[in-house]
Amino acid sequence: TTVLVLNGPNLGRLGRRQPEIYGHTTHGDLADLCRSWGEQLGLEVEVRQTNHEGELLDWLNDAADTETPVVLNAAAWTHYSYAIFDACAQLTATLVEVHISDPEQRPEVFRHTSVVTPHAAKVIAGQGVDGYRQALEFIAADTGD
Ligand code: DQA
Repeated sequence: TTVLVLNGPNLGRLGRRQPEIYGHTTHGDLADLCRSWGEQLGLEVEVRQTNHEGELLDWLNDAADTETPVVLNAAAWTHYSYAIFDACAQLTATLVEVHISDPEQRPEVFRHTSVVTPHAAKVIAGQGVDGYRQALEFIAADTGD
């Protein structure tokens, strides 16, 4: 099974971006980790990051067409993008929502809502980058691999 790990805006600066919140693992390190976690689970993992909402929408639309499972950290778009809501609604394979921090525990009220959650089979938040491993484990179990 191929799995897409899709990361939204500002996650390309992981490791340098507010490390007190998001930790010291870079996006490159995260991509390596996801690929090797996937390997152990028998999953082919492709990791992508974009700061451009339309690009993420194209990736989600392709995942809908190909019935590909998705691990999605839509970052700030999580909280307000109805286009992401609509794209997630079209997915038929397993969708897992991941956040490195726990948005619901953070002080900014805008983080307390998610357009992804209504479509997600599982939400993993506040586990740091290990949340991605947990998401891949869930997909491996859910897709019977
Ligand atoms: C995030 C949480 C979001 O609120 C924030 O906008 C991000 C990252 C997380 O992984 O903790 O960019 O999705």
